[in-house]
Amino acid sequence: MTQADRAAALAKLQDFLRIPSISTDPARASDVRRAADFVMAELRAAGLANARLVEAEGRHPLVRADWMEAPGKPVVLLYGHYDVQPPEPLDEWISPPFEPDIRNGNIYARGACDDKGQTYILIQAIARLMHEHGKLPVNVRVLIEGEEESGGEHVTSYVEKHPDEIRADAAVVCDTEMFAPELPTICVGLRGIVYGELIVEGARTDLHSGVYGGAAPNPIQAIAEILAALKDRSGRIQIPEFYDKVRPPSPEERRAWGRLPFNEADYLEKEIGSVSLVGDPAIPVLERTWAQPTLEVHGIRGGFTGEGAKTVIPAKALAKLSMRLVADQDPAEAVAQLQAAVERATPPGVRARYLPFHAGAPSLIDPTNPFIRLGARALTDTFGTETVYIRSGGSIPIVGLFQKHLGIPSVLLGFGLPDDNLHAPNEKFYLENFYRGIDAVVRYFELLGE
Ligand code: BES
Ligand code: ZN
Repeated sequence: MTQADRAAALAKLQDFLRIPSISTDPARASDVRRAADFVMAELRAAGLANARLVEAEGRHPLVRADWMEAPGKPVVLLYGHYDVQPPEPLDEWISPPFEPDIRNGNIYARGACDDKGQTYILIQAIARLMHEHGKLPVNVRVLIEGEEESGGEHVTSYVEKHPDEIRADAAVVCDTEMFAPELPTICVGLRGIVYGELIVEGARTDLHSGVYGGAAPNPIQAIAEILAALKDRSGRIQIPEFYDKVRPPSPEERRAWGRLPFNEADYLEKEIGSVSLVGDPAIPVLERTWAQPTLEVHGIRGGFTGEGAKTVIPAKALAKLSMRLVADQDPAEAVAQLQAAVERATPPGVRARYLPFHAGAPSLIDPTNPFIRLGARALTDTFGTETVYIRSGGSIPIVGLFQKHLGIPSVLLGFGLPDDNLHAPNEKFYLENFYRGIDAVVRYFELLGE
């Protein structure tokens, strides 16, 4: 890329990052729409004249475009998301989350890596090829959504109802990370997810904790007891039959993971920053995060948390609770298992129920698939280093849907870095990877067109 091309792409990325498209926050709906409009306009500017929004009542728009003028060449479905996670806690950001700031070759902003920067790589690759040749070496369909971070209802129903409109030979997704800096990486496995709320109700109303303490049930205590019953101290989930369908990694995959440059002490210090890791020490860390399910509590609300003291027994409490699932676990089955386990673990005096918000299946992609192999070649050509295959503990529910409804693999070309702070304060994207990402996708399209 020329310096001028880089500067132009960066300026546009900054515009994109200034839009606070937080899909989970209803107050941000008009910002989310602005981000959709931005993506549509950029696709049109890249040369995809039919870029358009797909609307659904009460949902964030999808952005769709097609360029099908390469007869006989493969059809690739490009997927990304223009929505972002909430930026809180705000006071931990060195520069404000929606005022992109460049420091040390990184651009800092919410969504810089996940996934505006990486989505924009796909758009820039199209723009570059169109600009240079007036055409693309492959057929392209584009599907960019605005609800990935909050459950993706719109895109889910779109893929279920209109599979013919997005028929393709493979999907290309840039929404994952490299295993290490300078190590080009294809992700071939993602965990699934079930996310919901555990709601616990006790007395009719809040009560004086001195007058009623010892007789009235406490929903926060109940949440603590339920959570403690669901997972033991070694991290093993205590839900009957929960592990029955967990498919262990193959011996070859385990050996390949063993060859990755991974140092547990560095990981503890640089990525986690706590006194020790948790989980079963008999299972290697990468296998724990890539090929084992987990159960996490994200927040507990209830009772008194303001300044000072208030002696009260709360009437109600809730916990945000998710499970990450691995192949071949089934999200609906996992929800049923969790609900039954919650019922058994509920102490006397309270009512507890787990209500799922959304779910996505885990996915495993065959690394020998020709589209994957060619993707690896494009990365290797661009980075000048052999591409590695990894899995990730994160979830991209669309990958399972593409597999199920279109029967196609997703090629996950990831350009994030392990220290990019996804979903956390000071999210960043290494700009060199932004530019190389564009080069790699251009190279991939060229290889696919040969
Ligand atoms: N891009 C991430 C997933 C990811 C991160 C994959 C790092 C591989 C490496 C994605 O946008 C994401 O965060 N997804 C959510 C999905 C959920 C809200 C349905 C997640 O994993 O929490
Ligand atoms: Zn993402």
